[in-house]
Amino acid sequence: MALRTIRMQGDAVLTKKCREITEMTPKIQVLIDDMLETMYEAQGVGLAAPQVGILKRLVVIDVGEGPLVLINPQIVSADGEQTGGEGCLSLPGMAGQVTRPNHVIAKALDRDMKEITVEGTDLLARAICHETDHLDGHMYTEFVEGELYEVSYEED
Ligand code: NI
Repeated sequence: MALRTIRMQGDAVLTKKCREITEMTPKIQVLIDDMLETMYEAQGVGLAAPQVGILKRLVVIDVGEGPLVLINPQIVSADGEQTGGEGCLSLPGMAGQVTRPNHVIAKALDRDMKEITVEGTDLLARAICHETDHLDGHMYTEFVEGELYEVSYEED
């Protein structure tokens, strides 16, 4: 596994619509492992393939319940509402208030290309929405209510 370079906001790759993955390949398996490693190293809870410069519909998420790999994710149901601070590894040190559904159900393929259904509330619902937005070229900053603010992280 290897760390990938995380693209920063302003990079055109973050504004593109990503393509579906139709076939699993060894290269995509390596990409998945690299994305997980990159997300953990950056202490993020999610990472989308375009954030490492790959225009494929693939996201990884871990909100503390173990790694989730979602290929071609589609939100099929969303309800409730939560407003809270949200950040992105492509805009380190910043956060903003974003309103998201509090409960979502998404369909996707796992890394074996098997259909899965993921149900999330609270942070997981937020992460699924945030990461799937990346696949359509959207950053959370488009939805921020009020101003972005600086956040500081404790160094290890
Ligand atoms: Ni993000």
